[in-house]
Amino acid sequence: MEPFVAGDSAIGASTAAAASNPLRSAADDPIRFFLAGPTYVLQRVREAQLRPPVAHRNVEFRTAYERVATALKQIFRTGRPVVTATGSATLLMEAAVVSTVAKRVLHLVNGAFAERFHAISRAHGLESDQVVVPMGHAVDPDLLRQALRRGRYDAITLVHSETSTGVLNPLADLARVAHEESDALIVVDAVSSLAGAPIETDSWGLDVVLTASQKALALPPGLAFAAISERAERRRADVPRRGFYTDLARYLDKHREGGTITTPAVTLYWAAETQLEGLLAEGIEERWSRHAALQQRTLVWAAERGLQVPAHAAHRSPTVTTIAAPAVHSAPDIVKALATRGFTVSSGYGDWKPTTLRIGHMGEVQLSDLEGLLAALDELLD
Ligand SMILES: Cc1ncc(COP(=O)(O)O)c(C=O)c1O
Repeated sequence: MEPFVAGDSAIGASTAAAASNPLRSAADDPIRFFLAGPTYVLQRVREAQLRPPVAHRNVEFRTAYERVATALKQIFRTGRPVVTATGSATLLMEAAVVSTVAKRVLHLVNGAFAERFHAISRAHGLESDQVVVPMGHAVDPDLLRQALRRGRYDAITLVHSETSTGVLNPLADLARVAHEESDALIVVDAVSSLAGAPIETDSWGLDVVLTASQKALALPPGLAFAAISERAERRRADVPRRGFYTDLARYLDKHREGGTITTPAVTLYWAAETQLEGLLAEGIEERWSRHAALQQRTLVWAAERGLQVPAHAAHRSPTVTTIAAPAVHSAPDIVKALATRGFTVSSGYGDWKPTTLRIGHMGEVQLSDLEGLLAALDELLD
């Protein structure tokens, strides 16, 4: 199967700004949905799901599966298989841990989703250590180096874009240190970064990179995707208890037969086939640039208003920005007031909930959409 190519005539002409998904139509204008996931799904992608489901071992589904898998390889920047699961990202977080760790795992923790990896390894009775840094900070590669000099691990887990805080970990640097100091597999949660921030799965030597459909890929929730390296695949021989629905080796075997391990959410593949084609027509690097521009605009707006951004300045995610609410307003009140104007954002996560707002500027959001939200916020905060 040929990879999707930009400008595929089947997609039609772009109606939005220069770098954009050509599937976007007037029916989608303007986007007012700025959660840090799930994100806005284009009308044509939603409509694709109306196609009736078929048997998942038949040729119609296998063709869609292959097209989705081929597109995902380009998005993950890998020559290795990208498997798909029906489930949310947490399913593949758990699968990644149980499929790569025989005994001991190191978790890099700087927020709620990084902690989830730790909860998973504990639930499976695995030995684990953590490198913990305060919320709002990224993990310093030197801390990883020190931890790897103290202990031997089967795998290291980390979250690239910590959605709970808006911090982007220095993934390429962390991976380089991991390779210099150890043979531990590198397991990356790229849930809110993939397709929004640069990730080079193969050239950075990442072993399991996982994401979910409902974030920067701008698909409905329900599918999860993982690229699996050759090193990680070889680990199957050393890890006897990988579960069943969580066994990445099983996903790879079935992938090579042209499909999924069990009955998939077939209609979500119709949506994925459509959306990933549009996404690649925009161009993955163009998509990264668009997300960087959205982030910059959000940061400039916050600075002009004198609002603090608690994520450390050198490590901010291009897909989600956490902003401290002005002292006179509670963040949940701002969220509610925005909702009455038709805009959806969320307040912060955990301890940051009462005092911060999270703006998800990912997926199909364009600068013109973001300007609408910022204007509504300006009105509210004046
Ligand atoms: C970084 C990150 N990891 C993991 C998850 C969990 O994803 P899911 O709810 O799809 O299991 C999320 C959800 O927001 C997330 O942002």
